[in-house]
Amino acid sequence: MIALTGTPGTGKTTVAAELNRLGYVTVSVDGLIEELGIRRSRRTEGEAIEVDTADLREKALKHWKGFEGGTVVVTGHLSHFAGATGSVVLRCHPQVLEKRLSRRGWDREKILENVRAEVMDVVLIEAVESTGWVQEIDNTHLEPSGTAAVVSGIIKGEKNNYPVKSRWAGELEKWF
Ligand SMILES: Nc1ncnc2c1ncn2[C@@H]1O[C@H](COP(=O)(O)OP(=O)(O)OP(=O)(O)O)[C@@H](O)[C@H]1O
Ligand SMILES: [Mg+2]
Repeated sequence: MIALTGTPGTGKTTVAAELNRLGYVTVSVDGLIEELGIRRSRRTEGEAIEVDTADLREKALKHWKGFEGGTVVVTGHLSHFAGATGSVVLRCHPQVLEKRLSRRGWDREKILENVRAEVMDVVLIEAVESTGWVQEIDNTHLEPSGTAAVVSGIIKGEKNNYPVKSRWAGELEKWF
């Protein structure tokens, strides 16, 4: 089980479609959360629903136990909590991420919240803390097929992509 994770908009779903084309099996963590009945909570009305990541890990590990077959790529920004052995974290330059999220029609607050998370390596740090190994791909200037090829190389053990040179911390002052 490999997690394909990253801040919303970094390209997980798009790259997963390319991985399917290459013959990889992909599973959406959102579907898994649904299927396994993972606990969720909403602290205040109107706030985003939070998934209980400890519950996700526990139930996902049981779910995968005894699983026989090849590599399964679990995708989604919570996939690194779903019992995977390693994580591939997609990264994207804040300016490009902002454009991608604006195109979705998201409000400013939600866009900036995600840009901030990307700048501050939030998903990377979570992935480092929750899976055995981590790789990163700066997806800013790649085509989805090119990114999928790098993911495939990582899965086959032919590529080592950690740590990447791209760090956006220098962008913090520009944005916040
Ligand atoms: N190299 C690339 N890889 C992936 N997506 C790209 C790339 N370049 C541009 N894009 C565009 O960026 C957007 C990425 O959206 P996508 O839904 O794949 O992100 P996501 O990480 O799955 O987000 P979410 O966490 O919200 O599901 C798409 O509109 C896609 O066309
Ligand atoms: Mg997605």
